[in-house]
Amino acid sequence: PRVLLVTSEAVPLVKTGGLADVIGALAASLSTSYVDVTILIPGYPSAVRNTLGLKKIADLPALPGGDAELFLGTMPDSRVKVLLLRSPLFDRRTANPYIDHSGHELDDNAIAFASLAHAAVRICAGRANYPVPHVVQANDWHAGLIAALMKLENITDVGSVMTIHNLAFQGNYPIEIAPQIGIPQEMITEDGMEFWGKMSYLKAGIAWSDCITTVSKTYAKEILTERFGYGMQDMLNRRRHVLHAIPNAVDLDVWHPETDKLIKRNFSVDNLAGKSACKRDLQKQFGLPIQQFTPLMAIGSRITHQKMADLILAAMPRILHEHPHLQIAVLGCGEPQYEEQFRQLAEQHPDRIGVYIGYDERRAHALHAGADILLHPTRFEPFGLTPLYSMLYGTIPVASRVGGLCDTIVDAGRDYLPVSEANGILFDGEEADDLVAAITHALHLYMRPAAWQSMQRHAMQGNYSWSGPAAQYIQLYAKIAPLPARQLF
Ligand code: ADP
Ligand code: GLC
Repeated sequence: PRVLLVTSEAVPLVKTGGLADVIGALAASLSTSYVDVTILIPGYPSAVRNTLGLKKIADLPALPGGDAELFLGTMPDSRVKVLLLRSPLFDRRTANPYIDHSGHELDDNAIAFASLAHAAVRICAGRANYPVPHVVQANDWHAGLIAALMKLENITDVGSVMTIHNLAFQGNYPIEIAPQIGIPQEMITEDGMEFWGKMSYLKAGIAWSDCITTVSKTYAKEILTERFGYGMQDMLNRRRHVLHAIPNAVDLDVWHPETDKLIKRNFSVDNLAGKSACKRDLQKQFGLPIQQFTPLMAIGSRITHQKMADLILAAMPRILHEHPHLQIAVLGCGEPQYEEQFRQLAEQHPDRIGVYIGYDERRAHALHAGADILLHPTRFEPFGLTPLYSMLYGTIPVASRVGGLCDTIVDAGRDYLPVSEANGILFDGEEADDLVAAITHALHLYMRPAAWQSMQRHAMQGNYSWSGPAAQYIQLYAKIAPLPARQLF
């Protein structure tokens, strides 16, 4: 059976966050289970450079924004098939594909990602010189228009899935551009894609896809509420009978302490000597004093309001004061004012905090491998891959009790000894006090080697493989594929 995964990011072609990791690994995992999977992604310059054996297979004239071309190639590692949508809209996206150098949203995002959805629908209509898929899976708002356009074209022999990786990113644009993106006024209603006086690409996907998935059980429940629904909760409640939770997992070929080529020395749950070498390396990379027994806490994520960058910064003076032996390594990029404050902290406390502002895959591996603790506060978290990466490397997460983190982290509790299956620490609240208390608790546990090692063991031995989640996707595809194709899955 054929599945088309439509996305704006996929490792190793282009990545700004977890979506890219998920698509790269899910596609590879599906293709080992007899699913004929193709990724459709914009032909950003980085994607063109990294896709193997590209050849043009079709012209796609008159998409929103102009003519485009479809190229077929394969992923460099997994050999999964990739279709690149090439046009001047994507040629100009040389760095982060959504924002310009000053952090503002690019002015043609609405048109560019409408063209991606139109291209997907031409493929589903058999008008792109490529086999028609049985199922098309749209990932996040970038691909949100697909089901709406399929409805307009009366395509009924392709099942559609809308996967929500992050409900906070919605693709909301002025209704005036509807004619340019091929959306008729009849679709811009309250039970369609109208959203607070605008039109929403994500809401369109929620409204018209055969089914909706999101990336953890807890998030699937949370998004039905006002607190986490980001205005979409009513629509999601209306469609909750087709809403499914399928968790993410880890690409163990990329993230595993025994085989990781990007870390200083490999290690395993039974021999943590290599982890000490990784800790020294991390201290060196971040300009911190090389001290084996000093606890080292990592922060590694997009530096944004979602990830509570504001709160970390507010709590930092107290964290430094109350824990005079703690070292901190920060890797990330995001909102410029927070980036600047992290830089200043590092200048003020060079022996305590090392900061690298930027996007760097190798440093991310060094960080998860070498630290003792990963601090991961967040206002909401659909899944949260980084705490899982850290756990695999025996780095204990201290994370907010929200979303996917509730499903993957077994909280140590607040007692002197951690609960027996514990692999991390969860905390409630969005105040600096909450953060400081959680870190203090983590450091207490760190001082008790037997307790800490037990947590490390549980963290490193968790089952993080894609095989389970991939099987769940296949079951779901089987439900929504057109009738004769259902038994193929
Ligand atoms: P989100 O998708 O919300 O950003 P996840 O934790 O699910 O959160 O995924 C984040 C991914 O992005 C991880 O692979 C993480 O290592 C990576 N990442 C985030 N910031 C950086 C950075 N500055 N350098 C390298 N990798 C980063
Ligand atoms: C989003 C979420 C993150 C999730 C990732 C992949 O970016 O913020 O929690 O892990 O998508 O699904």
